[in-house]
Amino acid sequence: MDNIIPRPVLVKPASGTFTLTAASNIYVEPATPELTAIGQYLADKLKPATGYALKVLPATGTPTAGAANGNIYLTVVEGDLSLGEERYDLTITPDLVKLVAYRPVGLFRGIQTIRQLLPPAIDRASVQAGPWQMAAGTIRDRPRFAWRGMMLDVARHFFSVADVKRMIDLIAYYKMNIFHLHLTDDQGWRIMINSWPKLATYGGSTAVGGGSGGYYTQADYADIVAYAQSRYITIVPEIDLPGHTHAALASYPELNCNGTAPALYTGTEVGFSSLCINKDITCKFLDDVIKELAAITPGPYIHIGGDEAHSTPLDDYQKFIEQVQPIVQKHGKQIVGWEEIAQSRLIPKSIAQHWKGDRAGEAIKQGSKVIISTASKAYLDMKYDASTRLGQDWAGLVDLPTAYEWDPATEVSGAADSDVLGIEAPLWTETLETSRDIDYMTFPRLPGYAEIGWSTQAGRNWDEYCVRLGAQGPRLTALGINFYRSPQIPWQ
Ligand code: ACM
Repeated sequence: MDNIIPRPVLVKPASGTFTLTAASNIYVEPATPELTAIGQYLADKLKPATGYALKVLPATGTPTAGAANGNIYLTVVEGDLSLGEERYDLTITPDLVKLVAYRPVGLFRGIQTIRQLLPPAIDRASVQAGPWQMAAGTIRDRPRFAWRGMMLDVARHFFSVADVKRMIDLIAYYKMNIFHLHLTDDQGWRIMINSWPKLATYGGSTAVGGGSGGYYTQADYADIVAYAQSRYITIVPEIDLPGHTHAALASYPELNCNGTAPALYTGTEVGFSSLCINKDITCKFLDDVIKELAAITPGPYIHIGGDEAHSTPLDDYQKFIEQVQPIVQKHGKQIVGWEEIAQSRLIPKSIAQHWKGDRAGEAIKQGSKVIISTASKAYLDMKYDASTRLGQDWAGLVDLPTAYEWDPATEVSGAADSDVLGIEAPLWTETLETSRDIDYMTFPRLPGYAEIGWSTQAGRNWDEYCVRLGAQGPRLTALGINFYRSPQIPWQ
C-alpha cells in the first residue's frame, strides 16, 4: 500500500490479505451500462496476466463470499456528494475489495489504485504465475487539482491513433484526466476540416525533417475522443493561432496577406508565420474550423494557442484574440490559450496556460484561471541531462527531482490556490519520431506530474517519492514502456 502513485490522501493498512482467483467476480451497483463498462474495463485489465475471465455482475448490497474466492464490489450507491466528483474510498478485507464513489469517474480512478495494489506482473501482456494478492487496508483519496494533464504535439511529428490511445491508457493509470492534442503548427495540420480539406491533405503531408506526415480524419478523432471518454479523460484540441500557422498558409493562398501560398515547412524555428488578421477570409476560416472542431469535441474546451506570434503586430494580435474568443464561445466552448493571450482582453472563463514569462499573472488579474506548465519544470521534451539523445534544452535540463520538487500553486506570482486549475505536462515533438521516443521522454517523469496534480503538497517529498517511483519500475517494464532508467531513482 506504500507504493501507489499518485500518493493517496489517506492509507491505513490492516491485517490480512485478499486473493483474486478465477472464481472472483466483479460486482457493480447499480448495474447501469456505465458501471458495467467500468467493471469490464477492470476485468479486461486483469485478464492478460491472470488469464481469468472475471465476470461483471449486478449487485444489490454488499456481495458475500468466502476468502477463498473474494469478490470486487464497485458501487456508487453508498457514495454521496460530499465525496466529490473524483473521490473514491477503497476498503480491502480478506473477503472483499470494496470501492465506493459518488460518481462513476471516482470508481474509474479507484480502479487504478486496485491495479497498483496487485503485484507488478499484473500489467504484463501474457499469463503470469500469481498469486494475485493485495494487502488489506483502507484508502481514502481525492485529487488536489481538477486539471491533471499531458499534451502531445502531433504537428511536428505525426502519431497514429494507436499511439495516441496508448498514451491515453498510460496517463489514465496515473489518474490524469486531460489529454491536450496540439493538432496544428507550422510543420503540419493534423485534423481534417471538411470545409477546408487541403489543410489536412496538403498541410498535413509532411513533418519536421521532411517525413510523410499524416492527419486524423474526423472519424479518427471521434475514435480518440470516445476512447478518452471511456477512461474519463477529456480531449482538449488545440488549433494554434495566429502564429504557428505556416501549414495552413501553405495550403490556401487566400489566407496570406499577399495572396501567395509559401512552400511547406519542415524546419524547427518558431515565430515566423501569422494569419492575415485583417482579411475577411481569415474570419470565415476561423469560424469554419472552430465550428467543425467544436462539433466533434464533446469536452468543454478548445485551445486556440496564441503563443509566440512574433510575426503578428501587437495590435493585430490583440484584435485577433478578441475576435476569436466569441467565435469559440458561439460554438459552445470555453477558451484555453497559452499565457500570451493575456495581452488581450479576455472574456470570462477563458483559461491561460503558463509556460514561460509572467503573463499568466495578467490573466489572473483579468479573472481567468490558469493551468501550470512551467517549461523549466513541466516540459516533457526537455532533456534529462546533457547526455540525453532526444529532446531540447532551451528551458534547461529537467532531471527527476527538478520535475517533481515544486508546487503549481506558487509558480505564478500573485496567484491564489483557487486561481490554479491544475497542471499539464506538454511533450513537443521536434526531435521525437516514434512511440518509443515518446515513452522515453514521458517516463518516468509523468507519474511525478500526475502526483503533483493529485496529491497534497504537504504529503510530498522527493526522498520518499523516489523510492515509490523505484517500485514502479517493474510496472513500467510490465507495461512495455521504454522508460529512461534515471540513475537518480533506486529502481527495483
Ligand atoms: C510553447 O512552448 N510555445 C507554448
